[in-house]
Amino acid sequence: MSKNCISIGSIRFNVIREAAFNNLGNLRPPIRLFVLAIGLLLTLMQCREQPVPVDENTSLFPAVDLALNPAQLLGKKLFFDTLLSNPVGRSCASCHLPKMSFTDPEQLAVSRGAIKTKFGQRNSPTVAYASFTPYFHYDSRDEGYVGGLFWDGRAPTLEEQAMSPLLTHHEMNNTDKTMVVDRLKKADYRDLFLSVYGAHAFEDEDKAFEYLAEAIEEFEETAEVSPFTSKFDYYIRGQLKLTDEEMRGLKIFNDTLKGNCAACHPSTPDPLSNAILFTDYTYDNLGVPVNEALKKLDSGFVPDLGLGAFLKKPSENGKFKVSTLRNIANTAPYFHNGVFKTLEEVMDFYNDRDSGKFGPPEVTENVNHDELGNLKLTDQEMKDVIAFLKTLSDGYKFSD
Ligand code: HEC
Ligand code: HEC
Repeated sequence: MSKNCISIGSIRFNVIREAAFNNLGNLRPPIRLFVLAIGLLLTLMQCREQPVPVDENTSLFPAVDLALNPAQLLGKKLFFDTLLSNPVGRSCASCHLPKMSFTDPEQLAVSRGAIKTKFGQRNSPTVAYASFTPYFHYDSRDEGYVGGLFWDGRAPTLEEQAMSPLLTHHEMNNTDKTMVVDRLKKADYRDLFLSVYGAHAFEDEDKAFEYLAEAIEEFEETAEVSPFTSKFDYYIRGQLKLTDEEMRGLKIFNDTLKGNCAACHPSTPDPLSNAILFTDYTYDNLGVPVNEALKKLDSGFVPDLGLGAFLKKPSENGKFKVSTLRNIANTAPYFHNGVFKTLEEVMDFYNDRDSGKFGPPEVTENVNHDELGNLKLTDQEMKDVIAFLKTLSDGYKFSD
């Protein structure tokens, strides 16, 4: 019997028990007990006949069974609502599906919009752990930009980020806020929306649109989206040991003379949140090659200048935000243009980029030649790092 069933069953049983004691109080105790027993039996039978359906798409991380507050629950409903796109059919979860660690299940380099022939130019990043992203800012000590949402940091908060796909032509394709709010008014969670944001929440359209985005942010901030239930997390908490291969991989990952991955993807707690997030949220041009496949799509391909285009600063051209590596084994393809399909290719790229075998960088300015490109790792060392990366997937199950 599923846990859900037991908890729903017991709520129902509690109702019957209260009814039995409060309303049947004038009956003699043996009869009360009899009613109670019948109630329990019925509850269990119903439970057995109608197991609470487990929604494949929403309940990815069974290890986390959270009660969401009304605003978070509303946000979750919005996140999964395929009626919010134009034409209907695409929700946030279409490109950020929990089962795929909040990335696109189609695993194309770039995602399909509500109009199925429309594509953007960038790979759908995971939404998991995005809530830890600091505000976009310039760090004068490190002389570089940090934080912000999207590959180029252009959205300051999750709330502002959430408004964008709803109105983007190659994503959810609503023509304006009115179109979104009209869809909201017809949603089956309309009452929940009004109870969270007030009976007049629809009156001001701009406000209603903001509330929608705020609720999505509330959901994205829950532990359902960032559960910290990977093998690595249990290792850090001293609850298990990593295998020899995984331990070797972690050492190479951290070693500045070997993988040097932790230079940008720290495996130590983030100073702001104290959580281990495997990104320092800085920006770099790794010299990622053009993804030729993108040229064949109807997306009007031009080289992606990343942070440089957002800031209109040539010194930042070709730089993209360092990605979290949490759940990285489930979020292929990789890099901002989805050019690599496997972690083996990514490792080979970091190790051997400078041999030239991957083709010229998409953006040739500002390529980082100091920290990657010619690592001289052996095949075994690269395998070890990948074994370590696989410990970062949430929903780890203890085998005993
Ligand atoms: C058609 C696919 C698609 C849909 C639908 C979509 N997204 Fe995205 N999402 C993307 C892509 C692609 C990016 C990266 C775009 C960029 O960097 O310019 C992204 C970026 C993000 C990010 C930034 C993550 C980070 O760490 O920087 C968040 C958060 C996010 N999306 C949430 C949402 C929400 C909320 C919705 C629904 C309102 C949504 N997305 C709908 C494809 C999609
Ligand atoms: C100099 C900083 C830096 C170093 C060192 C570095 N990375 Fe990265 N990493 C980045 C940046 C920046 C991106 C995103 C680049 C892009 O998409 O253009 C990234 C992206 C990735 C991705 C793809 C993430 C995704 O969601 O698509 C993987 C996997 C990865 N790095 C693994 C590693 C490993 C393993 C190492 C060590 C061998 C390493 N990185 C070293 C900065 C770095």
